[in-house]
Amino acid sequence: MVSEHAAQVLVASNRGPVSYSLRDDGSLDSKRGGGGLVSGLSAVEDKLWVCAALSDGDREAVRRGRSEPGVRMLDIDAEVHADAYNGIANSVLWFVHHMLYQTPVEPVFDAEFRRRWASYEAYNRAFAEALAEEAGEGAAVLVQDYHLSLVPGMLRELRPDLRIGHFTHTPWAPVDYFRLLPDDIGEQLLRGILGADRAAFLTRRWADAFIGCCTEILGGTGRTRIGAHGLGADAEFLRRRSHEADVDAWMETLREQIGEGRRTIVRVDRTELSKNIVRGLHAFRALLEEHPEWRERVVHVAFAYPSRQDLAVYRDYTAEVERVAHTINAEYGTDGWTPVLLRLDDDFARSLAAYRLADVALVNPIRDGMNLVAKEVPVVSDDGCALVLSREAGAYEELGEDAVVVNPYDVSATAAALHEALTMDDDERAARTKRLAAASTSLPPQQWFLDQLDALRTE
Ligand code: F6P
Repeated sequence: MVSEHAAQVLVASNRGPVSYSLRDDGSLDSKRGGGGLVSGLSAVEDKLWVCAALSDGDREAVRRGRSEPGVRMLDIDAEVHADAYNGIANSVLWFVHHMLYQTPVEPVFDAEFRRRWASYEAYNRAFAEALAEEAGEGAAVLVQDYHLSLVPGMLRELRPDLRIGHFTHTPWAPVDYFRLLPDDIGEQLLRGILGADRAAFLTRRWADAFIGCCTEILGGTGRTRIGAHGLGADAEFLRRRSHEADVDAWMETLREQIGEGRRTIVRVDRTELSKNIVRGLHAFRALLEEHPEWRERVVHVAFAYPSRQDLAVYRDYTAEVERVAHTINAEYGTDGWTPVLLRLDDDFARSLAAYRLADVALVNPIRDGMNLVAKEVPVVSDDGCALVLSREAGAYEELGEDAVVVNPYDVSATAAALHEALTMDDDERAARTKRLAAASTSLPPQQWFLDQLDALRTE
């Protein structure tokens, strides 16, 4: 049944714009999230955001009927959600699209995988049913990411009148790698997305990889249109936010911790396996080894915020980041100089302060849908910042020309790129930063979202 207050624009994503936690006294605290989709959607009125309850606080909020206007949180059974989110989306689909498997021993597709896959289907079905219920006649529904690959196909069957879009925020795997998946599962994923009128990606490269999979495996993309929309940084927000008092205070603190007159190589990531933080540390170590003139004169500021800590492989990776950072500090550090300033707690104001003072930004992912850090640093940089950028990041398509580009697996070449970036002439660095900032902000989040909505409605 279609609800009375049927929405005309709907967005569906696993993580919603708000989260709840239970206070000690039993009351609920709500927190609003950030990110490209949240800012992108702020341009649209009269929309409904359908998302999953992710925590006990969220589930309690749903049970108490504590909903924010414009948000519908789905209370999907916690075990079904964990199997779908951790067991399939983050452990299988994320690994396939970022090409993270150690193939001699993984992946293994067995009965346990099939059990989890059934949960992934159930979780996608819960979204499709909620969207079918909430959408007004002919409404536009924008389904987000690898968590919800099956939703477009399921929703199309329930509501053929809708305009359905799907957007992938990750890279897309090349066909030979995608074929690691069991044949029927690969086909189901592709057909799920092809249930949309339009499937969109962050870059042409990922869109082409998707088309390649569809062509090889299914013989084509059918009637689904394919697009690319390169999400940009939100210049207005970043410039304002990065000059607030808490960021200024962090600049002072960081300057003290770095030490007078030293250069800084900054990286800021969620600690995901695809971010390549460990090789980044090895490259910094190689820099100190091959260019001893940098000892005492440079600090690697590495902020590695927690992500997906329910998964053992993520916890192990975080531990490895810490271990390597400590080894470098033990080996090279002196009384007045700590070579690696590693922080594992999430602090947005501190990240902005690091962006402002960075001489070099290191963005070296193995593979990344876009990477907004590469786009944010040039926008807020105080005095210009050289960007060392992986050619496997989506951002490379727009920023490659003015960055120092690296193969993310090549530690020696990354060390050489850090040296090149550190020694870049001031004028050259300032000119490149200016061009990088312009390219980074050419498609702000609101326009990025409106373009997709437009294309879905009119093409
Ligand atoms: O960065 C890619 C991405 O898929 C984002 O689109 C999405 O917000 C995020 O990863 C998912 O992360 P999480 O598992 O923390 O919700």
